[in-house]
Amino acid sequence: MKVTLTAAKKAKPDFSKLGFGKYFTDHMLVMDYKDGAWQEPEIIPYDAFEMPPSTCVLHYGQGIFEGLKAYKNKEGQITLFRPYDNFKRMNNSARRLCMPELDGDLVVECLKELLRIDAEWIPTEPGTSLYIRPTMIAMDAFLGVHPAHSYRFFIILSPVGSYYANGLKPTKIMVEEELVRAPIGGTGEAKCMGNYACSLLAGARANQKGYDQVLWLDSNEHKYVEEVGSMNMFFVIDGVVKTPALVGSILPGITRDSVIEVCKKDGIPVEECRISLDEVMAANNEGRLNEAFGSGTAAVISPVGILYAHGKDMVINNNEMGKITSYLYDKITGIQYGRLPDEFGWIVKV
Ligand code: COI
Repeated sequence: MKVTLTAAKKAKPDFSKLGFGKYFTDHMLVMDYKDGAWQEPEIIPYDAFEMPPSTCVLHYGQGIFEGLKAYKNKEGQITLFRPYDNFKRMNNSARRLCMPELDGDLVVECLKELLRIDAEWIPTEPGTSLYIRPTMIAMDAFLGVHPAHSYRFFIILSPVGSYYANGLKPTKIMVEEELVRAPIGGTGEAKCMGNYACSLLAGARANQKGYDQVLWLDSNEHKYVEEVGSMNMFFVIDGVVKTPALVGSILPGITRDSVIEVCKKDGIPVEECRISLDEVMAANNEGRLNEAFGSGTAAVISPVGILYAHGKDMVINNNEMGKITSYLYDKITGIQYGRLPDEFGWIVKV
């Protein structure tokens, strides 16, 4: 791998006021695909890409990405949380979007080197981490609609705090009853750019009404809850942690999987199943909806305090973070930050 270090390091932001995705480190990893093969990876100073306006990702959105995080534990050791799972998922996304697959082991090694170079950008303030954004884009300068022949894979790094401006305060989510995110057979389970573009209108409408995000329903019957777009969704009903099953239109979240594994190991009843909005509303009316939360790399574990559906707000657990939600938050972040033992073998040292 070629490494070119920057001649001018940037000033660091105030690590206690990071927000999400606003600042980028000094370096990035870039690897191009051409003539049927990935070329040598390079670490170079973070800078703009130059590309012709005809570059096909700009027209047809043949682009995929991932999100994972690096942490610095109290011994100063840099760690990653389940990075191989991210590149496995990225390869699934690549296959769905007719893009070339990556060698996950090689990419993790390159990422480790990038992290060592930009190590001073890993914040250690409570609730902060270094968000890692691997991305792959189609680079052919060509307007025909077919898979490109050249691609660029890159990784950029961003020191982040909480994804939601209110931190761990329960979020307000609006159920989207008209627009849909993804049909079965579509790209819903791939982490591709278009899924996020398609979510913007509903998100903007929800924001205008004072909600943080939308909860999508299935595209067929508009009946079953799916995901929030930046988070997978969990409901605790009658003490059972329930999450929508991966039916093909839902992103297979790595934090989602971690929640399920922790529940199984720690004896918390957990189920992956179809959950109808009616079931959630009935459980709430009957006082059986104990808690609701979302999970994601960016969002970690985020309590949901208000869910708007059928013209009214449901208040969940008095709009407070529930016991199971706090337990899962403490357990997963404990493993991520090295405060708790890594019983699952999820932590990769850099
Ligand atoms: C993540 O949680 O890493 C995501 O990709 C969600 C998002 C910020 C788009």
